[in-house]
Amino acid sequence: MGADSVRKSIRFILNNDLVELDDFEHTQNVLDFLRLEQRLRGSKEGCAEGDCGACTVLVGRLVGNDLVYETVNSCIRFVASLDGCHLVTVEHLKGQNGALHPVQAAMVEQHGSQCGFCTPGIVMSLYGLWMNNPEANQIDIETSLQGNLCRCTGYAPIIKAAKSVLAAGGQKIDPLLQERNKIQSRLRELVDNKRVEIFTDTTKIFLPADVDDLAEILLQYPDATIVAGATDVGLWVNKQMRQLPILIFISHLSQLQKLEQMDDEIRLGAGVSYSQAWPIIAEKIPQLDEFWGRIGGGQVRNMGTIGGNIANGSPIGDTPPALIALGASIGLRQGNKKRSILLEDYFIAYGKQDRQQGEFVESINIPLVREGDYFAVYKISKRRDEDISTLCGAFKVRLKGGKVEQIIIAFGGMAAIPKRAKTVEGALIGAEWSRQNIGLAAKLMEEDFSPLSDVRGSAQYRSLVAKNLLKRFYLETIGKSSDGEDSQVAQSAGAA
Ligand SMILES: Cc1cc2nc3c(=O)[nH]c(=O)nc-3n(C[C@H](O)[C@H](O)[C@H](O)COP(=O)(O)OP(=O)(O)OC[C@H]3O[C@@H](n4cnc5c(N)ncnc54)[C@H](O)[C@@H]3O)c2cc1C
Ligand code: FES
Ligand code: FES
Repeated sequence: MGADSVRKSIRFILNNDLVELDDFEHTQNVLDFLRLEQRLRGSKEGCAEGDCGACTVLVGRLVGNDLVYETVNSCIRFVASLDGCHLVTVEHLKGQNGALHPVQAAMVEQHGSQCGFCTPGIVMSLYGLWMNNPEANQIDIETSLQGNLCRCTGYAPIIKAAKSVLAAGGQKIDPLLQERNKIQSRLRELVDNKRVEIFTDTTKIFLPADVDDLAEILLQYPDATIVAGATDVGLWVNKQMRQLPILIFISHLSQLQKLEQMDDEIRLGAGVSYSQAWPIIAEKIPQLDEFWGRIGGGQVRNMGTIGGNIANGSPIGDTPPALIALGASIGLRQGNKKRSILLEDYFIAYGKQDRQQGEFVESINIPLVREGDYFAVYKISKRRDEDISTLCGAFKVRLKGGKVEQIIIAFGGMAAIPKRAKTVEGALIGAEWSRQNIGLAAKLMEEDFSPLSDVRGSAQYRSLVAKNLLKRFYLETIGKSSDGEDSQVAQSAGAA
């Protein structure tokens, strides 16, 4: 790549100021940058792992002709990924002569803060909601707070504050919204479609110019770490102190963020975040709607990508079991070579996936649920919100004349990889879809899985729950809820 097509710095707007950086720690996170270098200490560090939301900031980025602001956890977001973005911190909410922003004023009036440690993060989450969704209802408010932990106030006054500021309106006179056009044109001026390279003797940062460039860089540096939403990689740095000498950032690549609706499937770029995918998923595969809202919290869903959830190969990632049950496939690319494989074949063994050196996940194809098929996914975790699965089970069945014509059962958290229950499936194919046969098949779960015991659950617990989920699925397909009550939504997904 020629020198004139490479930039040696990143550029972004911090509140009102243009920032250009060409020399910084390659794994530096946004929170450290704000607190230690910019002396902007409104954003707090609680957990440093994306869980508590005390560090919440807004990041605005150009999406087509629009400027979209999203809440993110600054503790796990890398500074390098801010190139071309508008970073908004709680300090920017201050009005003339230090006046409180309406969201802050509502928190004061409704007594939404006690020790105050969580408050800047909560204000930023509510600000993101107020700005993007003035019509927000109770569920929207609760969803916007999923990623914010308050240990002392309790959520009732915070929700009251959210309701009162939403009811008061006033978004039109909000400075950030008023300045939207100005910020948008300032961000457009930063777009030069160049590759970014920032090197030291021991580290390298790349921001590819486009997907072809990503493929080229990966061929040259097959051991580099791809960073998409950083909701996993950020923790490797903060918690495991991993060094990761070569980082390739991809969250700016719009070619990896395409969402396409075909007649019988959804095609997603690997860089599509959970939040970006949610509306189309909810509309086309409504059985996944509630489940989707249980992946992380708002900030994690705004950052984390489906491609990252698959590529990391985790046995407890939430989307793989659901996508395997739906028969999803993924597109992989190495240089100019492209191939497509079934998602279930991607996972080989713990820490081992069918991905070659220099290859990356480019896309995910998700077949829609056919009319008459039953599909459900159940996430079992210790907390309802912002928690990793203990296990996750996904089921899809096609019946013909009361018998099972096709069935896919996939679990996360039951083996070293997301895996199908093929023995159980085999016992059910061709069999009558009856309570008795489900009971018999469930007994075979142990032939498919020997789960581990860990802090989230014992092996016995996991085995028992897996069997019960199969029974629950059966009951739901025949119009009974798992406690025996008639169900209104025989084809709906549940989220335990
Ligand atoms: C607070 C918190 C809550 C969470 N809750 C959940 C949850 O409820 N359910 C759940 O499943 N997960 C959860 N996670 C984990 C995480 O959010 C997901 O695994 C997420 O999807 C990872 O995507 P990412 O874009 O952030 O990946 P990154 O962290 O950027 O990358 C993850 C891995 O994938 C690789 N990678 C990323 N994109 C590609 C690509 N296109 N091609 C090849 N390799 C790639 C990276 O190199 C890295 O190895 C949570 C994480 C946090 C911090
Ligand atoms: S410090 Fe807890 S989410 Fe960032
Ligand atoms: S006010 Fe103390 S943690 Fe929320």
